[in-house]
Amino acid sequence: MYRELEQKFKVIYPESENATYSSLLNYSDDLNRPRQRWYRYKEGFSLELVRKLINEYNKNNKGTIMDPFLGSGSTIIAANQLGLNGIGFEVNPFSYFLSKCKLQNYSTEIALEFKNASQEVLNVEYERDYKLPALSISKNVFNPDVENYLMNVKENILEGKYSDEVKNLLILGWISSIEPLSNYRKGGNGLKKRKYVKPRIITVNDARSELHTFYTNIFDDIATNDITFKAQIFNDSCMNARDYVEDGSVSGIIFSPPYANCFDYTEIYKLELWFGGFVNSYEDLKKLRKKSLRSHLNGELNLENVDTTKLSESTQELLNSLATKKLWDKRIPAMLQLYYLDMFKVIDQSYAVLEDNGFCAIVVGNSSYGGVVFPTDLILAEYAQKIGFKVDKIEVDRYIITSSQQYESTKEYGKYLRESVVCLIK
Ligand SMILES: C[S@@+](CC[C@H](N)C(=O)[O-])C[C@H]1O[C@@H](n2cnc3c(N)ncnc32)[C@H](O)[C@@H]1O
Repeated sequence: MYRELEQKFKVIYPESENATYSSLLNYSDDLNRPRQRWYRYKEGFSLELVRKLINEYNKNNKGTIMDPFLGSGSTIIAANQLGLNGIGFEVNPFSYFLSKCKLQNYSTEIALEFKNASQEVLNVEYERDYKLPALSISKNVFNPDVENYLMNVKENILEGKYSDEVKNLLILGWISSIEPLSNYRKGGNGLKKRKYVKPRIITVNDARSELHTFYTNIFDDIATNDITFKAQIFNDSCMNARDYVEDGSVSGIIFSPPYANCFDYTEIYKLELWFGGFVNSYEDLKKLRKKSLRSHLNGELNLENVDTTKLSESTQELLNSLATKKLWDKRIPAMLQLYYLDMFKVIDQSYAVLEDNGFCAIVVGNSSYGGVVFPTDLILAEYAQKIGFKVDKIEVDRYIITSSQQYESTKEYGKYLRESVVCLIK
């Protein structure tokens, strides 16, 4: 079945000499670049990948590039570098805020105001009362001295008489230092308690110096910027894209959706969401989870009254084969069906807003459950073709067998467990 599906498309493997994007899905090289270093967004694109896609598919140097899953805004930064406009959607209010700060033009006056303000807020002279967020682990996030210092800095920022732009940049730098100064780190699908080989105590001096580094980077980047930012971004689900974007008005779409791997971005970014004040109660969190793509088990997973006829026979077959497997959560089959239906809706919307001959590039990873590989790249390509897209190519960037156990269980089909770029033309 996999082979049959794959034969319908031009698939380029990483070892092929025609491979264009090889290892570009790895963003880490970009983490020290201007603006990209304002927050280390692990799931972000490399700017080079986006530029390559635009140069390959956007035939003239004009137009608008859309990213329905904006994350940290890399697609629009790269599009703006090339002189194109950007439109984006992001459901997570922290990621949206990050993109908003990064995709703005700052005047020299603002840069100077920021420089002075950033020195001012770090000097905490007295202790204010502060309230920790209502997140269950709040009290364990920082060592007591560091907590006291950071929360006082935050009060200084919020109460300071600064312009909104400066305040936002101060808050962004503050949020960016949370994880490096905390007792947690991002790992797997959430946060893990940090373990040090040698005991390491994070001090107030560390906190001051971390904040100082972020603020210096931000100042340097806004003071020496050479890009004109042209971005229109929305803090809403991309499922509503057509409420904001005219049909036929976009020249290219580039995105990487959450993969069907149970990662919940609201869980991974929970420190930023709660300490940044974007989420104030578990009720807020629940609402946010229900609005995001159903790639995880915290979404709305009710299949009642859902029309599943859009799922192809081969996808149904894969889902049926799950029935006999031992899964670690019984909601996985429902999640997968709803994930694909959500993605099909994103593809429908993309088709509608694209101009004729416009392109759409989807960077996506496949997943496996109970030893059954779900070839999301092929499933999305098959659907896109059905609604009228031409599938130009599927370029495999890398294989993603992550554990020896997974290797054993997916031995025969391991080649389909991979991350790819699906390139479509309207
Ligand atoms: C893989 S990340 C994108 C990273 C991005 N390419 C970058 O360079 O930073 C996927 C993003 O999709 C967002 N997301 C999930 N569901 C969404 C929805 N329904 N609408 C818009 N964004 C959504 C997540 O919050 C996450 O930031």
